[in-house]
Amino acid sequence: MPSFGDHYSFSHGRSDHERLRMLCEIHDPYARELLLKAGLNSAHRYVEFGCGLGYVTRWASTQAANAIGTDLSTEHLEEARRLAEAAALPNVEFETANIYEHGLPPESFDYSYSRWLLVHLQRPVDAMKSIYTTLKPGGIMVCEEADLAQIYAEPPSEAYNRIREITLEAARKRGVDFTGGRKIHTWAKEAGFEVLHVGAFQPHFLTGPYKSFWSWTFLALGPAMISEGALTEAELQELAQGMRVADEDPSVLVGQSRTHQLIARKPI
Ligand SMILES: C[S@@+](CC[C@H](N)C(=O)[O-])C[C@H]1O[C@@H](n2cnc3c(N)ncnc32)[C@H](O)[C@@H]1O
Repeated sequence: MPSFGDHYSFSHGRSDHERLRMLCEIHDPYARELLLKAGLNSAHRYVEFGCGLGYVTRWASTQAANAIGTDLSTEHLEEARRLAEAAALPNVEFETANIYEHGLPPESFDYSYSRWLLVHLQRPVDAMKSIYTTLKPGGIMVCEEADLAQIYAEPPSEAYNRIREITLEAARKRGVDFTGGRKIHTWAKEAGFEVLHVGAFQPHFLTGPYKSFWSWTFLALGPAMISEGALTEAELQELAQGMRVADEDPSVLVGQSRTHQLIARKPI
């Protein structure tokens, strides 16, 4: 498979759309609350990096003067545009862009947002510097990034424990940090921002469709990890079966990845 981004390990095509929709169903309420807390309003120009299917961008366009969502995946953006047209949203656009060299005009946005993008990048500080260039002086960068080391089941599930550790190690070998959420305040300072707010949340489930989001996500990472030699197909299937047992048992609690939140300002 040709490399996409910094060896982005999920599919960047349609096959990942349903999983991305569930990601948004679980996490968008937190994103909206954070952006409003950061002060996003109808006077502002908003830009999002790694917007995926554009759920947060479309919502932001209803709060801000206008919104641009950018992503490296043309197939994700096609779906993002289709949904914007179906909702007849007038103030939203989507553009294909690699965060490192996005080509957006400098100092032209009041707010930026990204979620679960920087943990997929080998140079997260350079990516934040790239965001910095697009923001006006005093502009606000809002980020939400995951820490996968926090995923667990209680009572403990050997399958959840093993797949989590295999996934973290495979990411390290790829040169990216799947625990990066806990570091975003340090990356922001290094990129020149003033940190205004930090926080974190971690969804937990005993039952319901969202409980298996991480089993699904680990399986979606499977093909990349098998091709990298991190595990075999047989091991993946055995771990998938173990995670299924935990997911289907209403007495087993599944704690998902912890998402770290950041509000930071470009100095005036
Ligand atoms: C885990 S998904 C998250 C999508 C969206 N932010 C959300 O939370 O629903 C990561 C996204 O980053 C995009 N991506 C990966 N590498 C990128 C890069 N170098 N520049 C821009 N986008 C990138 C992928 O195409 C994908 O849409």
